[in-house]
Amino acid sequence: MSSPTPAPTRVQRPSAEVRWADELARLRERDAAAGAVVPDGWHLSPRSVVDFVLGDAGRRDGLGLETKFVGERALVERCVVALATDRGLMLVGEPGTAKSFLSELLAAAVSGDSTLTVQGTASTTEDAIKYSWNYALLLARGPSLDALVPAPVHRGMSDGKVVRFEEITRCPIETQDSLLSVLSERLLVVPELDDEHRVLHARRGFAVVATANVRDRGVNDMSAALKRRFNFETIHAISDVRRETALVQRQSDAILADAGITSTVPGDLTEVLVTLFSELRRGQTADGRPVEQLSTAMSTAEAVSVAVATGLAAAWFADRPPRGEDVVGALLGTALKDSDDDRSRLRGYLTRVAKERGGRWRELYAARDLLDG
Ligand SMILES: Nc1ncnc2c1ncn2[C@@H]1O[C@H](COP(=O)(O)OP(=O)(O)O)[C@@H](O)[C@H]1O
Ligand SMILES: [Mg+2]
Repeated sequence: MSSPTPAPTRVQRPSAEVRWADELARLRERDAAAGAVVPDGWHLSPRSVVDFVLGDAGRRDGLGLETKFVGERALVERCVVALATDRGLMLVGEPGTAKSFLSELLAAAVSGDSTLTVQGTASTTEDAIKYSWNYALLLARGPSLDALVPAPVHRGMSDGKVVRFEEITRCPIETQDSLLSVLSERLLVVPELDDEHRVLHARRGFAVVATANVRDRGVNDMSAALKRRFNFETIHAISDVRRETALVQRQSDAILADAGITSTVPGDLTEVLVTLFSELRRGQTADGRPVEQLSTAMSTAEAVSVAVATGLAAAWFADRPPRGEDVVGALLGTALKDSDDDRSRLRGYLTRVAKERGGRWRELYAARDLLDG
């Protein structure tokens, strides 16, 4: 007897254009109905791109678009303008501030496709950016379009789509600079091909969104020539604890629900967690007292991970709703990595700050010994 075929598993994380396909369809309908001007090669009007990225919660005439990127409207508008011009867009900031997420949302809204992505590393080569060859075909037939294996930039240029270049500053400078002619002349030369196919002119809609982490080798190492071809936007951590709490609650609720867990992290506990993150990030309590910052970036992305780990630990191993001690346990694994100094700094924070506060803070204070290595 054969064993039952397991049900196909779902993908871990569908890309934005799949996850929000119906929102994108509704925005297209709205653009068509309103006769909105859609730039050549784009899927949506600029205004619809911004609405998609930010969501339209609370708007009377809204389409019920989910809140996605939490940030200033003006910033997102500047990003959209950059994509419509012949400049690249460079998103810089601390890790975990949603640079990648924002670039994914922009690509999904502008091109209907966020998957043309180059991941920058120290070993990224021009092949991975522009094109490479299928060597079997190359040997059999010589250089031809059939033998060419397009990489994201080639595909973005020929299809007129947004190309994402993640962590561009991790690439060697020479590799980064291979984008120069692409960005300035908007063409890509494949010297091996015959005259008819040698030069690829970018179709309208092609644009590059790059991200760079300020904690890596910085954008200072980028060549001046390449810098001039980008508009830079700095993405800051969310400064408003209320908005950040709402985001962490929303995202952790969704992830826990997806894992089949019904008891989410209680609102007052999420607020304590986000306050802790924001105070340690800024090196200051809400009432202005200095606290020692950690070496790890206490980002919103990490706060979401800690909230999810808190919920999972409580549901799976304690069989009760999440409490402060679960947060401390989750911080250990998720945020503090392997730094002993960070542990003692966090312990110091709990000892001095959490002690004086009521409510959920007491639970964190009581669990501070978990931080002793
Ligand atoms: N301003 C924000 N708006 C929405 N989500 C955010 C924000 N900041 C952080 N996040 C969360 O952080 C996650 C990961 O961010 P990511 O894009 O990988 O950061 P980065 O590329 O800056 O390191 C996002 O998926 C989201 O859960
Ligand atoms: Mg990133």
